Amino acid sequence: MKILIVGGGAREHALAWKLARDNPSAELIAAPGNAGIAALARCVPTSASDLPALLSLARAEQVDLTVVGPEAPLAAGIVDLFRGAGLTIFGPTRAAATIESSKSFAKSIMQTAAVPTARAELHRRADSAKRAARNFGAPVVIKASGLAAGKGVVVCETLDEADHAINLMLRDHAFGAAGAEVLVEEFMQGEELSIFALTDGTNVLPMIPAQDHKRLLNGDRGPNTGGMGAYAPVSLVGPEFVDDVVDRIFTPTLSALRACGCAFTGLLYAGLMLTASGIRVVEFNCRFGDPETEALLPLLESNLLDPMLAIARGESIAGAALQWSDRHAVTTVVAAEGYPEHPKKGATITLPSADDVLLFHAGTARSGDGALTVSGGRVLAVTAVADTLADAQRESVAFAERVQFDGKLYRTDIGWRELLRGARAARN
Ligand code: AMP
Ligand code: GLY
Repeated sequence: MKILIVGGGAREHALAWKLARDNPSAELIAAPGNAGIAALARCVPTSASDLPALLSLARAEQVDLTVVGPEAPLAAGIVDLFRGAGLTIFGPTRAAATIESSKSFAKSIMQTAAVPTARAELHRRADSAKRAARNFGAPVVIKASGLAAGKGVVVCETLDEADHAINLMLRDHAFGAAGAEVLVEEFMQGEELSIFALTDGTNVLPMIPAQDHKRLLNGDRGPNTGGMGAYAPVSLVGPEFVDDVVDRIFTPTLSALRACGCAFTGLLYAGLMLTASGIRVVEFNCRFGDPETEALLPLLESNLLDPMLAIARGESIAGAALQWSDRHAVTTVVAAEGYPEHPKKGATITLPSADDVLLFHAGTARSGDGALTVSGGRVLAVTAVADTLADAQRESVAFAERVQFDGKLYRTDIGWRELLRGARAARN
């Protein structure tokens, strides 16, 4: 069996690692992949956003399954293109991917489906958006509706900040078309967690909850990033919580998507917040999350390839189940100097031997002389799996410490909320 993996980050490395375990005889191809994925897959220098070139590649290689990591090719319609050519591909169509690529569409689906989320208003004009912000009152959240590389959400402490964000999006067009519509949204407070579900459009196979750490610095301080680490499982919620999320969030959302002619197949990611008045959806993504995937897949004991293949073939996953290890995973991201604003590329990386961790590469490349070098903002994702969260954190951080390259950045406290919960539980 030949599998094409589209993308070149640590999420795609973790997917390649898991699919290779599930089917050791499968031949993996990655476009474009990275220096770590190259140990598992044949990497071809085709960009994840070059849809015609990806289609030519999949046809020429006669791949049996294509798995798409990032949102951009999904939002651009890679699934429609491949299916139209008779190829088997895992992921949502362009119309279904709108659940991530348009926050205004996601909001309207949630309203139709009566899914709990923050109140929001859609505005195209700065003056009406500013009035709406005043009606909500500070703090208030201003969001560019379209895909803005994780930068389109501004949590505003004051109305001045809200005015500034609105001007940036609607007057200065800082996010181009992605910011031509903004959502003015009620501010919510609470702890966030991510739940992923594989879905054939109707049936849902949820994964265990994970928690991402978006801020650059320990203690969740500093600027927002693509994610500096993740851990799973999350004891904040019990097993009944996931059933509740399926019943109250995934099932009605999928049903509303089917009803509007954009049935969603693939992996639906629900970003949730546990507020004082209950669970709320912060956002949906149309793909595996990064870095949560790097923490989750090492805990998944059952096969991932089978349900992904069934979904890609348009088959039902009713009755399928996932089995999880009862251990703990902590993923620490090692990033480049200057990340997230101006990551510095080119530094030479020296890696210690990775016997006790899973090392997923993100922004790594080989230079002409074969040296491993930094080629992106997030460089490595180091996952340790252990019997306790504290041990997993210690092992993951110990490895990150031993990685050598100039200017490396990493957090040493991934999972800190969970450790605090554990400490409190032990005291009571
Ligand atoms: P999003 O891209 O919609 O997930 O937003 C990015 C981050 O902004 C989320 O992970 C939250 O931390 C924060 N955020 C988004 N919406 C809200 C909201 N309504 N209230 C408070 N924080 C929010
Ligand atoms: N972990 C956040 C994301 O993948 O969007």
